[in-house]
Amino acid sequence: MLVSMREMLDNAREQNYAVGQFNINNLEFAQGILLAAEEEQSPVICGLSKGAAKYIGGFSTAVNMVEGLIKDFGITVPVALHLDHGSSVELCKEAVEAGVSSVMIDASDLPIEDNIHTTNKVMELARAKGVSVEAEVGHVGAQDSGVITNPEEAYAKVEDCLKLIQETDVDCFAPALGSVHGFYQGKPDLAFDRMEEIYKKTKKPLVLHGGSGLPKEDIQKAIGFGAAKVNVNTENQTAATQTVRSMLNEKPELYDPRKYLGAARDSIQQTVKTKIREFGSANKA
Ligand code: 13P
Repeated sequence: MLVSMREMLDNAREQNYAVGQFNINNLEFAQGILLAAEEEQSPVICGLSKGAAKYIGGFSTAVNMVEGLIKDFGITVPVALHLDHGSSVELCKEAVEAGVSSVMIDASDLPIEDNIHTTNKVMELARAKGVSVEAEVGHVGAQDSGVITNPEEAYAKVEDCLKLIQETDVDCFAPALGSVHGFYQGKPDLAFDRMEEIYKKTKKPLVLHGGSGLPKEDIQKAIGFGAAKVNVNTENQTAATQTVRSMLNEKPELYDPRKYLGAARDSIQQTVKTKIREFGSANKA
């Protein structure tokens, strides 16, 4: 059974570790992530973007796929299935109705009042079903999209975070503080001072997006400053792709997709296991 993130994140804060959100792009990602979490006895959050849900077949297919794997693999650790970057109330509603156990409403491109208003609409429909909610303040961009032209504009403001926490009942939120989706060009430069201040004032579990390529030290520092959830996608994607690429280069006679996709799944499983250990969530299930 899928569970919400609430208890996972509260436990993570209490014991100073983070739970990984690993995005599922297809069946092999879901398999690798669940197997790694079970092996490490770690709670886990399967992230599901709108694009990935569409690729997989739709929200219902994604929900049934993850629930089926939990049953068939005999997964015993807590698993949340979380809509990543839900861009509208309608999309969150669709995901909740299909059975996800957690949603992110990303209204971060709106002024803070409107962001709060939109987040509260999602809270209403999510709470009715016991579904947890993540919000975003400031804007986490993509390294290659050129979104962060002015870091001060994109970074979360402390007073906006405080307002969001005072006026909503979200379970966690992602303040944009210099992390980006995709790999980093140059050295990542997270605004740790502001992260610390935001956590001290809000006391809410923080979410660190753009976990791929962040040095272990930065991740652990962020956990010390309130990060209870760290999102990783690109590192799993590159691990899977490199595996398939080298396997097909080495063995051009291969034609059974189970051979190379199975190997891709194993590389995802290994990557997730390494991350789980870095985040400190092993044996916390
Ligand atoms: P990366 O792809 O950079 O790991 O970011 C994942 C993420 O933050 C999903 O929301």
